[in-house]
Amino acid sequence: MTILAARAVAHANIALAKYWGKHDAARNLTAVPSLSLTLDGLRTKTEILFDAGLAGDEAFVGDRPLTERPLERVVALIDQLRAMTGVTLRARVTSTNSFPTASGLASSASGFAALALAGARALGLSLSPSELSALARSASASAARSVFGGFVALEAGAEAAVPVAPQDHWNVVMLVAVVTRGAKGVASSEGMGHTARTSPYYRAWVDSAPEVFQEVRRAVQERDLEALGEAMEHSTLLMHACMLASRPSLFYLTPSTLGALDTVRSLRRTGSAAYFTMDAGPHVKVLTLPAHAEQVAHALEVVPGVVEVLSCRPGPAAHEVGADTRP
Ligand code: PMV
Repeated sequence: MTILAARAVAHANIALAKYWGKHDAARNLTAVPSLSLTLDGLRTKTEILFDAGLAGDEAFVGDRPLTERPLERVVALIDQLRAMTGVTLRARVTSTNSFPTASGLASSASGFAALALAGARALGLSLSPSELSALARSASASAARSVFGGFVALEAGAEAAVPVAPQDHWNVVMLVAVVTRGAKGVASSEGMGHTARTSPYYRAWVDSAPEVFQEVRRAVQERDLEALGEAMEHSTLLMHACMLASRPSLFYLTPSTLGALDTVRSLRRTGSAAYFTMDAGPHVKVLTLPAHAEQVAHALEVVPGVVEVLSCRPGPAAHEVGADTRP
């Protein structure tokens, strides 16, 4: 019986210059450029098994089977791999996250990057990192960035992400303050479409994002934390202002989110280098330097509603792993 299998690990990334909105929804191309940091602490391991004994495609995140739209997205990516190789076997995908999935932290970036790599390897395809990034991007634009390690850019309308600086370029720390009580999750594609249709600020966001992206890229290249932090916070607040002004509003901020933002500002006033960013959820991510990380983490831990603070360093590119590797 034919069985083709492979496993890959990819790491989540957090955008320093944010992406929100599609230039081409059918091809999943982005309307604005983005720049992210791949994180060592948030890891997804994905195994794929093409098996002649399977009647249909199956996918699991931990023990939870995927159905409906989440399963369709996985199958659409595998269909592309099947079309490239002529293989018709059905597949079983099993994905494990090293971080709490229930926390609502974005796992689609690491998940689809790992799936693209594992799927290509299982079918014997030797795709370049750029080709893998394009494949991952078709499922989730942020996944294009998780194919690479370190600092990574995805230009507006681009097929694939490109590395900006390697993992060892700059030893920064990203603290993830996990906030329990959040808005009910709205899938990002749906949220972006809703924002583009109903937010009067959408055009202003799309027009202003490229300049902020350039500032973020320059600050990363020059390892200028103050310039990066200022531009990153601006990018975050521009994106949230645009979401908030949609109708009905996409409102991700909770009292704990605001408490964490306030803590970051107070830390800065007392001389700690700390800058915030947020995605489509209530969690707050804080960029700092190793010398300040412990103090910043302690300050975030005591914010009411913050349940956990995860500490991450720049992470590696997606890579193939053996059968016995931990999640
Ligand atoms: O590519 P998606 O569907 O995971 O959307 C990502 C959107 C944000 O996380 C809010 C911003 C970003 O650039 O990662």
